Amino acid sequence: MSAKILITGGAGFIGSHLADALLARGHHVRVFDNLSPQVHGKDAGVPDYLSPDVEFMRGDVRDANALRQALEGVDAVYHLAAMVGVGQSMYQIDDYTAVNDLGTATLLQLLIERPVKRLVVASSMSIYGEGLYEDEHGALISNATRSAEQLKKGQWEPVSTDGLPLTPIATPESKQPELASIYALGKYAQERMCLITGQAYGIPTTAMRFFNVYGTRQALSNPYTGVLAIFASRLLNGKAPRIFEDGRQRRDFVHVKDVARACADALDRPESAGHAINIGSGNIYTVEQIAATLARTMGRQDIAPEVTGEYRVGDIRHCFADLTNAEKLLGFRPEVGFDEGLGELVEWVASQTAEDRVGEADKELRQRGLVA
Ligand code: UD1
Repeated sequence: MSAKILITGGAGFIGSHLADALLARGHHVRVFDNLSPQVHGKDAGVPDYLSPDVEFMRGDVRDANALRQALEGVDAVYHLAAMVGVGQSMYQIDDYTAVNDLGTATLLQLLIERPVKRLVVASSMSIYGEGLYEDEHGALISNATRSAEQLKKGQWEPVSTDGLPLTPIATPESKQPELASIYALGKYAQERMCLITGQAYGIPTTAMRFFNVYGTRQALSNPYTGVLAIFASRLLNGKAPRIFEDGRQRRDFVHVKDVARACADALDRPESAGHAINIGSGNIYTVEQIAATLARTMGRQDIAPEVTGEYRVGDIRHCFADLTNAEKLLGFRPEVGFDEGLGELVEWVASQTAEDRVGEADKELRQRGLVA
């Protein structure tokens, strides 16, 4: 059945793909977005990639009056509006807390007056901190961390209390959160606020814990975006990608179309209500591997990545998704293979201009000891 759906942050990378997926299913899609200059550029209008079939409303999620109008006649809400830079969240604590926490609170306050039939909120793998590990006896370690002393010595892998190696394994939703940044704290607050309010007011609510999402429309000029977009933007500008640590840290890269489909499917999956669900891919690569694959795919093998041996405060070593619940509760199975997804990304990147602002971001972090 066709529904009227609001996507907050729907002009962004994930939101715009979700809009396409929902439109393709015959829904009416309204987007509420502040067109943040860091993402869309200064004085930007509605991005060209946003479907003309979307009803667009410009506004800030902290503005209750604007958001009230956006909620008019709406059956379901996808709450994706957020500030998304993990490093940046550590020096813009007030802005991140205002947009991510208070913005969500503003939405929920309005939903009390005007409940919807469905709420889906974007959460993040960042809430886990380090992923789940196993020690040499097969015991599960859910609180692995790396001390500052360890990182200073370049000992990148988390170790057991006896200093023995640990093996990373797929992280299920039951892993206890280890919040290592203001961004992660905000994402956890967002998902809990939504699930608690949904439960109290009978709004079926699902939180989607996205892993490392990549694909077209990623904000190439935003230096706080994900590693693939940063590396692509560097290579596009003829500059070497800069790899932190030794490049052997692993991530779970999930294509944005798989993410959009998982989100759209949640509408027709009442059994997913009340849950926070991992959305990853099982495509697990090291940062070194993705730098090499990207350079090859872009025909820029002449630019070797620079392995800096430095690290970002709050970075984790390994985290990848256990997708058991995603399959059980959403019927989710990733469909886009990494080679296919990367090929598409590279083709799109070639048609873009990207302002390389990594240097500026690096300076901001470095000044505050957040890159060392
Ligand atoms: C983080 C968040 C995630 C969020 C994402 C995008 C954590 C654990 N996860 O993911 O929830 O959705 O940011 O905001 O906080 N790297 C380089 N060189 C660079 C940039 C990154 O080597 O120029 C490395 C990082 O050190 C890291 C890996 O690439 O080891 C991935 O970094 P990034 O893409 O920022 O994502 P996460 O930190 O995994």
